[in-house]
Amino acid sequence: MSQGLVTAAYIVAAICFIFSLAGLSKQETAKQGCYSGIVGMAIALFATIFSETVSGLGWIMLAMIVGAAVGIHKAKKVEMTEMPELIALLHSFVGLAAVLVGFNSFIDAGDVSAEMHTIHLVEVFLGVFIGAVTFTGSVVAFGKLNGKIASKPLQLPHKHKLNAAALLVSFILLLCFVSADGSWFALLVMTVIALAFGWHLVASIGGADMPVVVSMLNSYSGWAAAAAGFMLSNDLLIVTGALVGSSGAILSYIMCQAMNRSFISVIAGGFGSGDAASSSGREEVGEYREVQAAEVAAMLKDASSVIITPGYGMAVAQAQYPVAEITDLLRKNGTEVRFGIHPVAGRLPGHMNVLLAEAKVPYDIVLEMDEINDDFAETDVVLVIGANDTVNPAAQTDPNSPIAGMPVLEVWKAKEVVVFKRSMNTGYAGVQNPLFFNENSVMCFGDAKAKVDEILAELKK
Ligand code: TAP
Repeated sequence: MSQGLVTAAYIVAAICFIFSLAGLSKQETAKQGCYSGIVGMAIALFATIFSETVSGLGWIMLAMIVGAAVGIHKAKKVEMTEMPELIALLHSFVGLAAVLVGFNSFIDAGDVSAEMHTIHLVEVFLGVFIGAVTFTGSVVAFGKLNGKIASKPLQLPHKHKLNAAALLVSFILLLCFVSADGSWFALLVMTVIALAFGWHLVASIGGADMPVVVSMLNSYSGWAAAAAGFMLSNDLLIVTGALVGSSGAILSYIMCQAMNRSFISVIAGGFGSGDAASSSGREEVGEYREVQAAEVAAMLKDASSVIITPGYGMAVAQAQYPVAEITDLLRKNGTEVRFGIHPVAGRLPGHMNVLLAEAKVPYDIVLEMDEINDDFAETDVVLVIGANDTVNPAAQTDPNSPIAGMPVLEVWKAKEVVVFKRSMNTGYAGVQNPLFFNENSVMCFGDAKAKVDEILAELKK
């Protein structure tokens, strides 16, 4: 394939990626967005593999077959609740690839002209740095999300000074690297520092703040890919990396706003590190009342307005289908039913919206937290289905809580609140929830799907 044709194909692929992002921004067009992305990626791969500059087609095909087999196997097996950890793992591959591309580009500079040599060295150094930070940061995020590493933040003494020192030493190493016209010593020492820096950045973040970390690593992986694009002189990789990098940064910013966190402190690492040993720790803070499914069904029959606030537990139990049926039944009986969605409910952005769309809940009754928070006071019954941190009043009342300041769904203002969960265990942030001990709260213990099925059967009687 001639270079002109490759360039044309890259432009088409880049446009497909832009359409893909635009499509993914709305639920109604998300599927089209996915298709645009697939088409763009197919064009990009085809044009790159069959371009004049690429040789060793056999090896590429072999790598693609192995990669595709692993990818298809994993994608078929992965549960929706495991998506964030899979994404974190994939980010780590992008980081590792950027490091390897950087080393390769240093060993074999190809046809870099003498004037471009210094720029090439800077590209190599920055590419390896960003890649290494992304790699270890994503590995820690993967570990924290699947529970292999405790979600508690790592609290090294002088952690901000350590981060600043890592950046400063890396900058000095960059100057040494460029002035020595490329030095393995400077490159390798910086790689080790960057690996430790990435590890420390994410390990220092705990509590309920992991969603922001995942989107931040998404952004880093984009910049790592863009850096690899510079080293490989591949325009499409630069464009794609910049798209991922900037959209990840925008998503991180939006999430920071939703969580009431400062964007700068996320980039610097180490928020969500409140004192978990405070009164908002794991201990129970009063007595709770238990209800059975039949009583909940009776409450729902009497209610004229109901709000459902789903969380991670609904995803685990796959309770969205009976929840949708209950919604339908109550609406037919004239009850106003709406959903309140917290921006970080579940384990990935838009998690609850995807589940509810899957179960064919109408979009117009699924409202964002800001749209519904003022309405709880006028609501008869709130069903908290597998949510915990996102409905925790301690975020507003306990300044020492690890989730202090995070906006939450103010469910406790409703007349009656029914909480569906299996035990009195804490949620993701490891913080006890005073909501469960309120006078207007009752606990409906058991698997969310089994309980909602029982309520549905009662309502149908
Ligand atoms: P969580 O605070 O994680 O609480 C989920 C609750 O569901 C748990 O208390 C658990 O209690 C219950 N549960 C689990 N399986 C269940 C089942 N089969 N049936 C019934 N209940 C079940 O959920 P949330 O309110 O959605 O908050 C999300 C948390 O995850 C936040 O802290 C957020 O920051 C964090 N996070 C979010 C994301 C994104 S992007 N959304 C990414 C990473 C982390 P039992 O064990 O007692 O049943």
